[in-house]
Amino acid sequence: MRVLLLGSGGREHALAWKLVQSPLLTELHAAPGNPGIASLGQCHPVRADDSEAVLGLARALHIDLVVVGPEVPLVAGLADVLRVGGVSVFGPSRGAAAIEGSKTFAKDVMAVAGVPTAAPLPEPIAPCVLKVDGLAAGKGVVVCHTQDEVEEGLVELAALGGDLVIEELLEGPEISVFALCDGATCLALPVAQDFKRAHDGDVGPNTGGMGSFAPVPGFDADAIEELVDLTCRPILAELAERDHPFIGTLFAGLMLTPDGPRVLEYNCRFGDPETQSLMPLVEGDLLEALA
Ligand code: AMP
Ligand code: GLY
Repeated sequence: MRVLLLGSGGREHALAWKLVQSPLLTELHAAPGNPGIASLGQCHPVRADDSEAVLGLARALHIDLVVVGPEVPLVAGLADVLRVGGVSVFGPSRGAAAIEGSKTFAKDVMAVAGVPTAAPLPEPIAPCVLKVDGLAAGKGVVVCHTQDEVEEGLVELAALGGDLVIEELLEGPEISVFALCDGATCLALPVAQDFKRAHDGDVGPNTGGMGSFAPVPGFDADAIEELVDLTCRPILAELAERDHPFIGTLFAGLMLTPDGPRVLEYNCRFGDPETQSLMPLVEGDLLEALA
């Protein structure tokens, strides 16, 4: 198979590292890629968010499968452009990617699907968590323990634009759960932990991700299946019900609270940096699973 991998980060390098181990792979192409990926396949100077250019490249290279790394092109509808153009893609449609692109959509889907999550709050009163309702590269969330933090957070998030979501502040360790989905069923990957807050002791602001490890002690295959049953399969069923079947990686960010796991957010793609720690643990043929 000829594969075109989209993106330019460490996540895509980790995916490339795993994909080239597949006996099914004949050629690996990437756009735009990075120097690490260039040692494994051929990089092309096309931006992942330029959907018409990606479609043109996929056709010119006779690509059998496009694998999309980042969320921005997915939320903008890249997978739809490729599918309408006759190119197979591992990545959700615009309608399904809204599970990451819109926090209010995600909250609504969770409520209908019966997935446990942080309760919405009517007013920004500490303690609470403020979020903007769009993609913000991990920087659209402010965790507020005091009312001063709320006031600062409101100013900070107003600068990003988008509707404000206010929710209950939860406490507990976080884990990242990943499921490879074909629209109807899914396959669990190992769980990982990542660390989002800057500075030693996790006292700084949230970032897109500072580092990650996997496997996570205490989560064997049965425990992971239970989490996927709780947080991924109901979402898959609800998105299919809404005519937005989810094809791609559904990534649930969970907090393990004293009252049980709560979903903080969904992402419509592999995690970064989690993928770097996950890929060495994936047994079998990743390409076969994605195709
Ligand atoms: P999100 O983008 O929604 O995953 O939020 C980014 C980070 O903010 C999470 O990984 C948590 O560390 C923190 N966070 C988000 N929602 C909550 C919440 N309801 N309670 C406590 N921390 C949260
Ligand atoms: N590491 C968190 C993310 O990929 O969103």
